[in-house]
Amino acid sequence: MPTQRFKSFFKDYSTNVDQADNQYFWKLSDDIIQSIIEKNIGNQINKNTTILDAGGGTGRWILKFSKKYQCNFILYDLSTSMLEVAKNKDSIKKLGDKIRIVNGDLENMSAIKDASIDYVTSIYNPISFVKNVEKVFSEFNRILKKDGLIMVMGQGYYNALYSKINNYVADTKELEELLGKSLVSWNKSVPKLKVFTKETLEKLATSNNLYPVKTYGIPIFAQPQFEDFDSENKQKSPLSNKLEIDNKFYKAVFEIEMAFNSQDSVVNRGMNLMIVAKKK
Ligand SMILES: C[S@@+](CC[C@H](N)C(=O)[O-])C[C@H]1O[C@@H](n2cnc3c(N)ncnc32)[C@H](O)[C@@H]1O
Repeated sequence: MPTQRFKSFFKDYSTNVDQADNQYFWKLSDDIIQSIIEKNIGNQINKNTTILDAGGGTGRWILKFSKKYQCNFILYDLSTSMLEVAKNKDSIKKLGDKIRIVNGDLENMSAIKDASIDYVTSIYNPISFVKNVEKVFSEFNRILKKDGLIMVMGQGYYNALYSKINNYVADTKELEELLGKSLVSWNKSVPKLKVFTKETLEKLATSNNLYPVKTYGIPIFAQPQFEDFDSENKQKSPLSNKLEIDNKFYKAVFEIEMAFNSQDSVVNRGMNLMIVAKKK
């Protein structure tokens, strides 16, 4: 059962997340994610393929994927507020029987059959919100077909330390909790979030028989600025502003990010990390 804080956080979040691209830092981040996912899927998709978006929220990623892939989609999420926004979208309704919407917890995905899914995507850190992340990876392994892929994001541990020290000048108690328990608290309305490294994500995968293909930092050099966290996505940071008005700059930053974001020496700089792993 979701907690009251979980419910109220995602009730507010659901009203603005579809406008996140108005701030170009988030547009950049979204474009990087989409590019990584498309690179890893390649042209393997046919009409019998099923993509499950785990913690898929308002369905905004399924809508992006459906423009490119003619296949089946499952939108899976614990928040009824997020799913309600999805259900009310005409573009989601138009997918007809190509989309199934499931309200459930990632720790127990009993509504999804064993070995029935080709790709699991999980974008902007649903696993940072769960209680038992081992259970989630075990469920991903159970529902995947042989050779199926997961593309799963979690918040970055080192970036959280960097940000708490530099941007928040956090007190030692908070830093100790982050250091020792890998839990970060960004503000009172957000539940405490789990943070991950390339190594912890890859260990989670391998201990659940998912073979790590690559881990990415997203983004690794571009950093969100204060205004980029405006919950209504209206304020413009100097970085978002430059990315918006200067197309050459946008392209250059995108290319720099893509050139380095899976290099072992810099992955852990990522604000968020994405592990791509395969079921053998
Ligand atoms: C930050 S939002 C990202 C939503 C969406 N993936 C996107 O990128 O727009 C995290 C999502 O994870 C979902 N979530 C968190 N914990 C969950 C759980 N235990 N089971 C299923 N969904 C969960 C939330 O309801 C929310 O929709």
